[in-house]
Amino acid sequence: MKLSIEKVFPFVSEKHINELAPSAKECNELLIKATGRGNDFLGWVDLPGSVTPQQIADLNATATKLRAKCEVIVVIGIGGSYLGAKSVIDALSNSFEHLKTTHKNPIVLFAGQNIGEDYLAELMAILKDKQFGLINISKSGTTTEPAIAFRLLKKMLEEQIGKTEAKERIVAITDASKGALRKLADQEGYKTFIIPDNVGGRFSVLTPVGLLPIAVAGYDIAALLKGAADMAISTGVDVPFEKNLAEQYAATRNALYRDGKKIEILVNYHPKLHFFAEWWKQLYGESEGKEHKGIYPSAVDNTTDLHSMGQWIQEGERIIFETVISVEKSNKSVIIPTDPENLDGLNFLAGKHVDEVNKMAELGTMLAHVDGEVPNMHITIEKIDEYNLGQMIYFFERACGISGYLLGINPFDQPGVEAYKKNMFALLEKPGFEAETKEIKSRI
Ligand code: PA5
Repeated sequence: MKLSIEKVFPFVSEKHINELAPSAKECNELLIKATGRGNDFLGWVDLPGSVTPQQIADLNATATKLRAKCEVIVVIGIGGSYLGAKSVIDALSNSFEHLKTTHKNPIVLFAGQNIGEDYLAELMAILKDKQFGLINISKSGTTTEPAIAFRLLKKMLEEQIGKTEAKERIVAITDASKGALRKLADQEGYKTFIIPDNVGGRFSVLTPVGLLPIAVAGYDIAALLKGAADMAISTGVDVPFEKNLAEQYAATRNALYRDGKKIEILVNYHPKLHFFAEWWKQLYGESEGKEHKGIYPSAVDNTTDLHSMGQWIQEGERIIFETVISVEKSNKSVIIPTDPENLDGLNFLAGKHVDEVNKMAELGTMLAHVDGEVPNMHITIEKIDEYNLGQMIYFFERACGISGYLLGINPFDQPGVEAYKKNMFALLEKPGFEAETKEIKSRI
C-alpha cells in the first residue's frame, strides 16, 4: 500500500505537515503504551498478529459447518457489528452473485442494521423456502435493531426446521460473560465466539465479528489478518514519520482540518469498495465527532458520483479534501471492442481495457479537483484481495487512533450514540424509562 500526499502541498505546506510529525509520533506512542484517553479500548492495536492458528481454525471449522448446512446465512448486527464484514464481503464478492443459478459459497445477507419493516418482511419472504442459518452479533447484546431481527428470524428458523436443528445453525458473537445475547446463547447452547472487552465495535472487524461472516462467505481470513499484521509493523512507532503511512495520513488530515478543511471525502473508482467507505465513515465519524470537533467523513463512488456530486466537489464551498483509494490492477479483464460503424465515436478506445479508461477518469478528476482547490491524498493498493483489504483496514484503524489523539478527543468512546436510544425508549414506553417518557411527551 502506498500513500501520496504531494497534491496537498499547494494548500497546506509540507513544512506545516512536518511540524505535526512529532505530535503524530507521540500520539502513535500513546496507542502502544496505552497511556492516552480511552486506553481500555486498545485491544485492536496488537490484534492482527495475535490471532492464533487455533482461533483461525475454529472460525474456519464453524464456517465450514454453516456452509455445509445453509444456502443463505443472515448476519445480524449493526454499526461495528455489521460494517466490517459487509465491507470485506462486498469488496470480494461477484457483484451479480445473487443472479447466478448455482453458488460456490452461501449467499450472505444482513439484518438488524435497520428497523425497516419492509426490509424484514421481504427478507423473511425470501428465506421461507431457503436453508438458512444465523450469525447474531452484538457486543452489548442489548442493541434494539439486531435484537428485533434475531427474535423474528430465530422464531422463523425454529418453525422451519425445529429447535434442535436450529441450534446447529445459529452462532452468537458477543461478550464473554455479560449481556442478553450471552445469556440467551448459553441457555440455548449456541456455538459462540467472544468479542474482546477491550475492542470497540468499530475496531472489531478483525475479531470473530468480521472474521466469521467473511470465512462463511468463502474468503481467506488468514490472508486478511496477514495484511493487517504487516501493516501493524509498518505503522509502528519505530518506523520514521516519512515512512509511516498512518502517522502521515493522520498528520496531513489534521493539518488540513486546522486550515479549515472540515470535510473529508473518501473516493473510490471501484464499485465494490462502496461499503468499505461506509465502514471507514463509521470508524472516523464515531471516533472523531466529539466535543464539537472532528472532520466530517463522507464518501463518493466514482465515476458514478461524478455525475451527481462532481459539481459540488469541483465548485462548491472550499471546505473539503479528498482521499482517493486507487486500485492498481483489476482482477478481471474486459476489452473495449472496435465497431465498424463507430456511431458512438468510441473507436479511439478500441483495444483498451475498461480499467484504462477508469484510470484516466481518475487521473483527470484528481487534476481537475486540485485545480478546483480540493487538496488530494492518494492511497494505492495493488488489487482488491484479502491481503490488501487487511492492510487498508489496519492502516485506517491505526491512523484513526493517532488522528483522534491529535484532535484532542477520546477516539474510543461514543457517548453521543446514546441520545437517540434514550428518546426512542422513552417514546416506546420501555419499562424503566417512565420519567423520560413523561418528559419527552411534554415536548411533542
Ligand atoms: O462502534 C460501536 O461501538 C457501535 O457501532 C456498535 O458496534 C453498535 O452500536 C452495535 O453495538 P452492539 O455490538 O453492542 O450491538
